[in-house]
Amino acid sequence: MVENFIKILNKAKKEKYAIPQFNINNLEWTRYILEECQQNKSPVILGVSEGAKKYIGGYDVVSQMVKSLIKDLKITIPVVLHLDHGSSFDSCKNAIDSGFSSVMIDASSHSLKENIYITKKVVKYSKRKKVSVEGEVGYIGGTEDGVSNISLNAKVEDCIEFVNKTNVDALAPALGSVHGLYKGEPNLDYETMNKINNLIKIPLVLHGGTGIDDEKIKKAIGNGISKININTELQIEWSKAVRSFLNKDLEVYDPRKIISSGEKAIKEVVRNKIILFGSIGKGA
Ligand code: 13P
Repeated sequence: MVENFIKILNKAKKEKYAIPQFNINNLEWTRYILEECQQNKSPVILGVSEGAKKYIGGYDVVSQMVKSLIKDLKITIPVVLHLDHGSSFDSCKNAIDSGFSSVMIDASSHSLKENIYITKKVVKYSKRKKVSVEGEVGYIGGTEDGVSNISLNAKVEDCIEFVNKTNVDALAPALGSVHGLYKGEPNLDYETMNKINNLIKIPLVLHGGTGIDDEKIKKAIGNGISKININTELQIEWSKAVRSFLNKDLEVYDPRKIISSGEKAIKEVVRNKIILFGSIGKGA
């Protein structure tokens, strides 16, 4: 069973910790993440970008794969299957119809008015199916799925208007974090984060979790962040481990050995984030 994030994120907001969103790319990564989160009794949000969905085969494949892994691995922690940066109503609808329990509609490249209009439409469709919705205000730049963009920080009044008019379940305000690797030090606007957190009731989401040091992450959680997305760090650590394995054994050709040579690295990132975010034991 997959569930929406409303209950687990509201609890995290109240008790001041964050739930990790780990992005998945294939069956193996999904298994490693589920096993490590189960081991540490942490709720988990599995993020699926449109690029990853296409790579894996489609929304149905992803949905069946995650649900089958939960069943066969006897996973008992809360697991959310979440579309990351859904680019349109249709994309969100397709994910929901395939059994995703949560979607992010990212209409942040549009005007605020347009963003509200599209997000509202997704919320209306999702509510009927008990699916949670995350929206974005401002624009979180950086590089994701090979596409690079410039950031635009969110304004407090836009966030309030957006949340009031759309009725989303979580909000990702762009406040200085970026996807992929940072050029220089991440510069998060904690003051605005805190203001938004005090003025709206729903949980806040931090995208671009890779490359933000532990102290800054803790400060973000202290200022109201309840969901943190990690993607690039998993990719970097997995690639490093696989590269070193291949360099050591020039004869290896079994794909199971090659892919799983990165298992330990992925599980280590997952465990460290669960401890850092404070979600350890919260999914018992
Ligand atoms: P990173 O790739 O920087 O970890 O960001 C992930 C993310 O925000 C997914 O939406």
